[in-house]
Amino acid sequence: MEGIKLLKTRRSIRKYIDKDIPREIIEDIIDCARLAPTANNLQPWIFIVIKDKKLKSKISDITDYGKFITQANVCIAVFCKSTKYYLEDGSAATQNILLAAWDYGIGSCWIAGDKKFYCEEIRKMLNVPSDYKLVSLISLGYPEENELKRVQNIKKKSLKEVLYWDKYCIE
Ligand SMILES: Cc1cc2nc3c(=O)[nH]c(=O)nc-3n(C[C@H](O)[C@H](O)[C@H](O)COP(=O)(O)O)c2cc1C
Repeated sequence: MEGIKLLKTRRSIRKYIDKDIPREIIEDIIDCARLAPTANNLQPWIFIVIKDKKLKSKISDITDYGKFITQANVCIAVFCKSTKYYLEDGSAATQNILLAAWDYGIGSCWIAGDKKFYCEEIRKMLNVPSDYKLVSLISLGYPEENELKRVQNIKKKSLKEVLYWDKYCIE
């Protein structure tokens, strides 16, 4: 898909059809994630791709707003070593995953990791060393048709509401 259109049409997709995402596509999505901008080029991230059904359902059970993870074909857990800018770095990588997935026609949703009550439990469950922090969980799957229609109606702030030139001003 053309770049600007890709950015403008991505939406959080939480309902998926039962279809496998090929391994090469998952690898390419993670390849896009590892190329994200990162403070001082530290690249503090690791990406855990969770395909195992039991593990996926355990993760979805632990979360409060990620129950749909269990229906997703894949869940990706983004961890970053606890550097000064770990959250920014991990967030940039997360966004790359959402956009790369969408370019493949795969729906995704960013599920909060950092600051959530379950972040340590998930880290331990996935055997990740204690100097890493869970930045995000991402569900991935081919979108359900109705879900694609639903997200088209989600309201976004207009450009006029958010754009200021030179200085902020109240009208
Ligand atoms: C940091 C962050 C945490 C989020 N956590 C959740 C979550 O736990 N569960 C969920 O369903 N969506 C979550 N989302 C997705 C947002 O709800 C979604 O991006 C927002 O409603 C805007 O919709 P859009 O992604 O379709 O543009 C999160 C998004 C961000 C950026």
